[in-house]
Amino acid sequence: MIKDLQQKILRLKKEKDVCILAHSYMSEEICEIADFTGDSYALSVKAKTAPQSTVIMCGVRFMAETVKMLSPQKRVLLAHPQAGCPMAEQFDRELICEVKARYPDYAVVAYINTTTNLKTVADVCVTSSSAVKICKAIPQKNILFIPDINLGAYVRAQVPEKNFKLLSGGCPTHARIEKADVIKAKAAHPNAKLLVHPECRAEVVELADYVGSTTGIMDFAEKSAAAEFIIGTETAIAEHLQYKCPEKSFYPLSKDLVCHNMKITTLPDVYNCLTGAGGEEIAIDEQTRLQAVKCIEKMIEYGG
Ligand code: 13P
Ligand code: SF4
Repeated sequence: MIKDLQQKILRLKKEKDVCILAHSYMSEEICEIADFTGDSYALSVKAKTAPQSTVIMCGVRFMAETVKMLSPQKRVLLAHPQAGCPMAEQFDRELICEVKARYPDYAVVAYINTTTNLKTVADVCVTSSSAVKICKAIPQKNILFIPDINLGAYVRAQVPEKNFKLLSGGCPTHARIEKADVIKAKAAHPNAKLLVHPECRAEVVELADYVGSTTGIMDFAEKSAAAEFIIGTETAIAEHLQYKCPEKSFYPLSKDLVCHNMKITTLPDVYNCLTGAGGEEIAIDEQTRLQAVKCIEKMIEYGG
């Protein structure tokens, strides 16, 4: 049944000139039919060069909006209309404008997990894989980092030559994990390397053997000589790694590392998008797009 649906999707996407992008948190069966899978940085860059006229984003809303901003001539569909990122909605534009007014000599560096509206007041965007590089590269010494306090604190530690102001936003999925979860997982798997996403709390990041984006974690685990890994990000990553490296063992850091927004998209949703029975077409008014896309273009310029 899964194979049948995958065959239908592959046929339809070719007939209809559709590119399917899947974030690494998608299920194995969605990743299998995608043209490209990766972290949020890789997906943004890929979206710009995809030759197809339509893009289906299997991920969350800000990812589909990023694709639309970079490729306004394309039809961009979010595979499941309810797939949002709660962190992206945590601060509104007005609040950030007020903070900006108080600290006029600070550059607003926005995690890509933000709404399009919030991006209109950002100087540059970053993703988890590009944040350190971009914060080092931008000319400004003072940085107002929004919205993720955990990613911000991680970047601040890697870029001591700059001044950071952080706001207390963050990912509810990763913030759920505490030091006690790490102690428990390490006790159960004493030989395993701990690989975590920088959206985790500092007390978790401090104990890690590797800190990186979803793609960074997967690359590290694949190349490492170690045989066992505790995976400190959404449980989909441990699952993908287990398929990729069957000779190694992967343990989710916690069974609570589940992002319900990422989990809501199913293979039938992708099929329904292709037949016109589902998904949501992303529309952004041109004035907002022109303002918001600047910080994404800056991210690609500095991120390489
Ligand atoms: P990546 O940049 O690693 O893809 O992370 C996106 C995300 O939403 C992590 O929770
Ligand atoms: Fe947003 Fe966290 Fe889900 Fe990533 S894991 S999409 S940051 S809620």
